[in-house]
Amino acid sequence: MSYDIAVLSGDHIGPEVMKEGLKVLDAVASSEGFSFNYTEALIGGAAIDATGSPLPKDTLDLCRSSGAVYLGSVGGPEWDNLPPEKRPEVGGLLEVRKSLGLFANLRPVKLYPELASCCPLDFKGKTPDVDILTVRELIGCVYFGEPKTLTEEEGLDTMIYRRHEVERILKVGFKTAGSRGGRLCSVDKANVLRSSMLWRKTAENMRGDYPEIDLSHMYVDNAAMQLILNPGQFDVIVTGNLFGDILSDESAALAGSLGMLPSASLGPSVHLFEPSGGSAPDIAGKGIANPLAQILSGAMMLEHSFGEFKAAGRIYKAVEKTIVDGFRTGDILGPGEEAVSTAAIGDAVAERL
Ligand code: IPM
Ligand code: MN
Repeated sequence: MSYDIAVLSGDHIGPEVMKEGLKVLDAVASSEGFSFNYTEALIGGAAIDATGSPLPKDTLDLCRSSGAVYLGSVGGPEWDNLPPEKRPEVGGLLEVRKSLGLFANLRPVKLYPELASCCPLDFKGKTPDVDILTVRELIGCVYFGEPKTLTEEEGLDTMIYRRHEVERILKVGFKTAGSRGGRLCSVDKANVLRSSMLWRKTAENMRGDYPEIDLSHMYVDNAAMQLILNPGQFDVIVTGNLFGDILSDESAALAGSLGMLPSASLGPSVHLFEPSGGSAPDIAGKGIANPLAQILSGAMMLEHSFGEFKAAGRIYKAVEKTIVDGFRTGDILGPGEEAVSTAAIGDAVAERL
């Protein structure tokens, strides 16, 4: 069996962490008796420099005809002065998400006991209980709502949710909560925003279809606070695009670093897998970026796109072992520990498969 993967490394640390992701995928594939057929394509700033477009048609065509899309990260100060739709983030990343209909973004985090000192919370010597899946709606909300305008005097974005968009993401939330402890916290701002009022009502209407799920609602400001006061109360958080962007970064910090947060973006056909952090221009080219989010995103790809659950499980275990054995990049360094390179982490995971 050979799986076709579109490899979109992107900008800055993108290609550095991608290299380690592919290293680990190849290592697990060869011992599990399948293989990957990688085709590289341009996205983001790299694509702008080469073709003038942050998402060339060839790239999108390749994504559509592949079994999965494996993405690094896009953006950087070089392209920050372009108009919004030409920027790597908007014209590249948001455009590929929208074009592929990737409405459900899964962002799981877990604080490994060995990384407890990297968690900004201090629970009096006990490892804080952080094991949370954020289910973020990814192609609606204020990110995509029309109209949008930008003039010298005014910037306008429109926050809108339609019932069918809310229903399909809540369904993912209910289903995943069933396999992760059973508690589903729907996060909104229904005391103020009309789009959130619709969201909350839709969730309530669906409650009866999932009697085994313990559904609760929380305002986003409170959720931001509860995450740091008592992260153990959350199994699955389901929320809109903007709130999910913010809360998932917060959850990653609880797990030690944004470099630990993988993601799966699921849609009706081909899915996309990317680390949740950015392209980190400040550390690019030094070989010190944390590749674990990229590697873990590869494991999510094996699960969600190819049904290779055993191989995925081996990657999760190998990552855990790598951490237990003390391999650290600078972002997850504890007292007295020494950092190793991006490549050394990739090697360590591959050896432990
Ligand atoms: C993320 C990123 C993106 C987002 C940016 C780069 C467009 O922050 O994947 O969380 O806001 O969705
Ligand atoms: Mn983000």
